[in-house]
Amino acid sequence: MSFSILGAGSALPSCVKTNDDLAQILDTSDQWIYTRTGIRRRHVITTETITGMAAEAARKALAAAGITPEDLDYIVCPTVGGDYITPGLGCTLQEELGAHCPAIDINAGCSGFLYSLDVVDGIFARKKARYVLVTAAEGLSRIMDWTERSTCVLFGDGAGAVVLGEGDGLRYLKLRTQGCSAPLHGRFPMGNSPWTKEEPHTHFVHMEGQEVYKFAVNTICTSVQEALEETGLSIDDMHHVLLHQANMRIIEAARRKLSIPEERCHCCIEETGNISAASIPTLIDRCSREGLFHSGENLLLCAFGAGFTSGTAILTWK
Ligand code: ACO
Repeated sequence: MSFSILGAGSALPSCVKTNDDLAQILDTSDQWIYTRTGIRRRHVITTETITGMAAEAARKALAAAGITPEDLDYIVCPTVGGDYITPGLGCTLQEELGAHCPAIDINAGCSGFLYSLDVVDGIFARKKARYVLVTAAEGLSRIMDWTERSTCVLFGDGAGAVVLGEGDGLRYLKLRTQGCSAPLHGRFPMGNSPWTKEEPHTHFVHMEGQEVYKFAVNTICTSVQEALEETGLSIDDMHHVLLHQANMRIIEAARRKLSIPEERCHCCIEETGNISAASIPTLIDRCSREGLFHSGENLLLCAFGAGFTSGTAILTWK
């Protein structure tokens, strides 16, 4: 016995920055950003906290599932970082919600939601839980170099959550890590240790766009084909496809190679930009609230991220 999704929620900060807004502070344009990425705008934190966004998404997911924070047996937070280096986002979210269960963070870059599902699968397998909350929340605007036009225009802030309960909704899940930090990483801030021999550096995200692009398209195509082979399912059996929202050109290239019909491939990147681990749960929330998912339909999820990490899952909607 593993899990099924009982409810979902999402939240975005109130401040919206369009591509034209970015063109006020960078040598860029709506035309360049939209044609290269499919992004029109992104939401960025001003007064909000990452914990606050996570709590808003989580409360919506709890309400959709019809349970309260006291009912939770575990909280798992995929994120590249919460409001503090320590404690983790899981702890600050647990405090904010008034829950009493154990809470942990998982940092697997943009694949964090899939890695969290794997951990949760183990929690249910050990019969340790009835209800688990997975809340991904990202404040990427805090770790962008807003003078570096080739990277900062891609990202946004946001949170997505699901409540999982005992069930047989998980049909397939596979993770991969291909340790390779050079093309995509963000470093811890410099300390002031008098003994450090570190070269001065910033904590901003460094990305070699073309390397990531190649890894992303290749990974989605290979992992999805492998998932279909191992389950004996075909792409026609996938009623909904939710790919990590990094770049519309990556999504389109993979969609075409895998012959996924356009109407089955759901996207929010135009409005959110890349919100890392929060992309897929945000899509789950939006699609479920729009009534797009029906009982018995299959959801194909696939994400890739810094590490490099990747994860692919097939879930049946209950
Ligand atoms: N506005 C205007 N011009 C720009 C901008 C910008 N924002 N950014 C870069 N340029 C310029 C470059 O300086 C370069 O100019 P030059 O030819 O005079 O040197 C030109 O545009 C082309 O630059 P490239 O880097 O070759 O552009 P490319 O077509 O590769 O697109 C992009 C860049 C969009 C970053 C692409 O490589 C990409 O999408 N890569 C994948 C990135 C990604 O998905 N990251 C997710 C990371 S995290 C995660 O989710 C895993």
